[in-house]
Amino acid sequence: MHNVEPILGKELPPHLLTTLRQSGDLAKQMGVVVCMVGGSVRDLLLGRPILDVDLVVEGNGIAFARTLGRQTQSPVKAHKRFGTATVTFQDTFKIDVATARTESYGSPAALPKVKPSSIDLDLARRDFTINTLAVRLNPEHFGQLIDNHGGLRDLESRTIRVLHDQSFVDDPTRVWRAIRFEQRFGFRLSQRTHKLIHGARERKIFSPLSNTRLFEEIVHTLSEKHPRKALARLAQFNVLGVIHPTLTWSPSLTALLRSIEQTLAWFKQDDAGAKPTKWVVYFMALMDALPQGAVAQTLKQFPLPAIQRKKIQACHTQSGSLLRRLASRSLHYPSSIYHLLVGLPDDTLLFLRAKSASFSAKQHISAFLRTYQHVEPSVTGDHLKALGLHPGPAYRRILDQLRDARLNGTIKTEAEEHGLARKLAKMS
Ligand code: CTP
Repeated sequence: MHNVEPILGKELPPHLLTTLRQSGDLAKQMGVVVCMVGGSVRDLLLGRPILDVDLVVEGNGIAFARTLGRQTQSPVKAHKRFGTATVTFQDTFKIDVATARTESYGSPAALPKVKPSSIDLDLARRDFTINTLAVRLNPEHFGQLIDNHGGLRDLESRTIRVLHDQSFVDDPTRVWRAIRFEQRFGFRLSQRTHKLIHGARERKIFSPLSNTRLFEEIVHTLSEKHPRKALARLAQFNVLGVIHPTLTWSPSLTALLRSIEQTLAWFKQDDAGAKPTKWVVYFMALMDALPQGAVAQTLKQFPLPAIQRKKIQACHTQSGSLLRRLASRSLHYPSSIYHLLVGLPDDTLLFLRAKSASFSAKQHISAFLRTYQHVEPSVTGDHLKALGLHPGPAYRRILDQLRDARLNGTIKTEAEEHGLARKLAKMS
C-alpha cells in the first residue's frame, strides 16, 4: 500500500499538516478511524493547492469535530441532519468532517437516503474513481493511501471514470461534474463514462433533477477557471439545453464567451476597481441570444438570489440600447459616459465591455471603471451652506455640475472648483 506521508509534508502548509496529525491522534484517543478523502486527496496528488480538507470518520463525525474544535480552540458548525460539521481554523482553512455513510437512491436524481457505515462503503458511493482515494490519519497508519477503485491509476492516466453504470441515473448532477473535472484538469472521459453521458438527455435522465440542484451545478460550472470549455463540452453532449430548450451553442455564443474570458482577465490585471461575480457575467452571456420570454422563464425556474435575477433580466433588456449609445460618435464627453453608466452593476459593465464590438465603447467602459466613477467634487454640502445656499434640490444640481466640470476637465484645481461653486450658488 502506498504511503503519501512525504507528499503531505511537501504539499501542505505546516499548520494544516499539524492539524491532520492532531486529527489522527484524536481519532486514536476516541477509538475511531479518520481519513482525509475526496477532492482534497485528489488535488494533493495532482500537486494542486489544497484550500480546505474533507475528513471522514468511521464513528460519530460531529462528536469528533466538536472535540477537535475544543482542542484547537476553533469554532465548529454542525449540520446534524447530514452528520457533518465544519471546523474553521483562524479563518485560514476549514476542515469538513463527515460521518462515514452509505447512500441508497429511492428514486433517480432524488437526494439519497444515507446511513452510517464504514470508510470503504463511503468511498464506494462516490462519483468518479479519482474522488475515491483516501489517506489514513490514525497515527499507526498515518499517510497510508486507500485506493479501492483504481483512483491512482486513473489520476496517472488522467481519466474520469464512473464506478458503475447507474451512477449518472442515480445522480445526473454527476454529468456536469464529469465535464467540469475533465475540463479543469485536462483529463479525458473513460470510454464507458463517455458512452453513459452520450445521449443522457435523450434518455431523459435530467427530468427528475430539481432546479435547485441543477442551478448549483450551473453556478459551479460558470465559476470554473475556464467555463467556456466546459460549456462547449456540455453542448457537445446536448446537455446545455437542460438550462432552457432554446439555449443552443453557436459561433456568436463562443465569441461572446471568449470575449468575457478576455475581459475578466483584463479586469483582473488592470484592477479596474470592479467587483464582478463571475458566474453572473457568464449567465448574462448564456441568456444573451434568448428571446425575452425564455429569459424570464429561465430566471423564474431557478432559485437565483433576487438581486442577481434582477441584474441579469435588466442587462438582457437594456444591453442593446446601451451598446448602441456607447458606440455612438456623439458620445464625446466623459460626463455623458458617466451619466450613461453610473448605477449599472459591475457585472453588467463587464458584460457590456465583453459584448461590444466597438473599440471606443470598450474604452468608455474602461475609463468609467478606472476613473470616472471615482471622481467626486471636493466641494460639499457644507461649503454650499457656507455660501448662504439653503439646503434643497439645488445642492444636487450644483454638485453634479461640479462633478461634470471635473470629469470634462473644464476645471482642474480645487480653487477653480470653489470658484465655480460660488458662481453657480449665486445663479441659483
Ligand atoms: N460526490 C459524489 N457525487 C456528487 C457530489 C459529490 O460522489 N454528486 C463526492 C465526491 O467524492 C467528491 C466529494 O463527494 O469528491 C465532495 O464533493 P465536492 O466537495 O462537491 O467535490 P470536490 O471533489 O471537492 O470538488 P471541487 O474540487 O469542485 O470542490
